[in-house]
Amino acid sequence: MKNIVVLVSGGGTNLQALIDAEKSGIIKNGKISCVISSNPDAYALERASKNNIPTEVIRRKDYDEFFEYDKALTDLLKSKNADLIVLAGFMTILGHEVISAFENRIINIHPALIPSFCGEGFYGLRVHKAALEKGVKLSGATAHFVNEVCDGGPIIIQKAVEVKSGDTPEVLQKRIMEQAEWKILPQAVSLFCQDKITVKDNIAIISD
Ligand code: GRF
Repeated sequence: MKNIVVLVSGGGTNLQALIDAEKSGIIKNGKISCVISSNPDAYALERASKNNIPTEVIRRKDYDEFFEYDKALTDLLKSKNADLIVLAGFMTILGHEVISAFENRIINIHPALIPSFCGEGFYGLRVHKAALEKGVKLSGATAHFVNEVCDGGPIIIQKAVEVKSGDTPEVLQKRIMEQAEWKILPQAVSLFCQDKITVKDNIAIISD
């Protein structure tokens, strides 16, 4: 059974999708053993507590230098014996130490079809605003491994979602969460936990 640690900062709807998927058996061979938040007031922490999942808080601003924060987060994840780390709306940048310590063992969910509307500055509603300004007719979500290139790691699963005329960034965000993020993130986690993902030359290969 793989040990899953989920990193959050906000509302935690993707965390909830993971909790529900673990309960219903969609996530095979994996258990969420800890939720770590960058924000002590994140509602995601309440979702964890309601489900008897241990929680921790680590704040960037409690460390003078970024490398100190990077080391502290790496040590915390190692102390939890994390096999897999899931970024579910985690708003703090990860550093070299944590990314290299957990190569191809950190999964992020991005609310667009990478390589569109991704990279630095593309987070939250900004992603959906950019998609609407471009006039794309499809957007969606991408579950991918994290490497040192922002939103540049191997792509595990993508799901397209229709953009409708009259959409606002908020409406599109909600549709993408419901139709894509909450489905593909648990699926990607389950594939990882069953050792069904291999990575070669920055490409993720999924086996049946
Ligand atoms: C989601 O839109 C996700 O794609 C992005 O951050 C948001 C997190 O929402 N990375 P929630 O905290 O899971 O509700």
